[in-house]
Amino acid sequence: MRSMTTRVRRTDPDFSPIRFEEGVLHLLDQRRLPTEERWLALDTVDQVARAITDLVVRGAPAIGITAAFGAAIAARQRGDDISAWRLDLERLDRSRPTAVNLAWATARMRRKAETTGRLDVGALEAEARAIHAEDVSANRAMAEAGSALLDAGSGILTHCNTGALATGGIGTALGVIVAGYQAGRVDRIFADETRPWLQGSRLTAWELARQGIPFKVVVEGAAAALMSSGQVQWVVTGADRIAANGDVANKIGTCSLAVIARHFNVRFMVVAPSSTVDPYMATGEGIAIEQRDPSEIWHAAGLDQPPGGFDAWNPVFDVTPAGLIDCIVTEHGVHRPPYDFSN
Ligand code: MRU
Repeated sequence: MRSMTTRVRRTDPDFSPIRFEEGVLHLLDQRRLPTEERWLALDTVDQVARAITDLVVRGAPAIGITAAFGAAIAARQRGDDISAWRLDLERLDRSRPTAVNLAWATARMRRKAETTGRLDVGALEAEARAIHAEDVSANRAMAEAGSALLDAGSGILTHCNTGALATGGIGTALGVIVAGYQAGRVDRIFADETRPWLQGSRLTAWELARQGIPFKVVVEGAAAALMSSGQVQWVVTGADRIAANGDVANKIGTCSLAVIARHFNVRFMVVAPSSTVDPYMATGEGIAIEQRDPSEIWHAAGLDQPPGGFDAWNPVFDVTPAGLIDCIVTEHGVHRPPYDFSN
């Protein structure tokens, strides 16, 4: 694995943290942002699976796209050993459990291999590129549909990072917010810092700053104060998996925001491509919630090693009940309750 430090151009509209060139996957290492823009070059499926687990790349659509390129890389490595390739795809599937986009993308790559009946590297690379390109168009369609729901003068609170870093294109929730800002409908943007990994204060802040869009980072505990102050009219988030009944798994803290929003009469919008919908998951209860190492919590507190006797619980997603969600925007349009994503 090679690494290289570069500077991403400030307003490049086609910026993507995922590039695939001549059989090599280049990922912008999101663990180092915003202080360093370092790219890693990966050419084995093992490196790709580890990059997903270790959060080099994160965000539901982005890890789906990455896994698809990982499957193409595995095909190059395996030659015509399709059984070994299938095991590689299982390894990719295990790299993170909650976002369904990952399993959705590897299922598509498996279907592609079945239609050609062999490991056709060219066809598999083309399929991975198609998955990436489809996410770019889905992002645009969602930005248009979601931003149209915002009234002039709106204030928005968002959670985690849902922009270009988390997707193939301009983003899901952040795409809606930026489109609303560019259309003159959004006056105030608040980004939750998003503990413990700080996707908001590191990544969303980096994305908005490089586009020259004003925003304020808030600590998670400020959500109720912010919503009671009247400064926000919408909470807009992404999703990692949407169950058939509209329950939404997303970054830990999302459900708290939805509860607070309902109390203060702030509307709640979820923005996600159809690759995030899991029609086979009847309700959110069945969604596997990833638990990560407690060290993430100590590191966020500035401690390398916690003093003896410290312990932590670190689930990194939660499930927001469908009843707290005013609308779910996909590339197919605006869905309203009662939700039915069963087909
Ligand atoms: O742990 P992460 O950073 O992968 O979690 C990401 C999120 O929860 C995002 O909100 C979600 O993937 C939607 S991104 C378009």
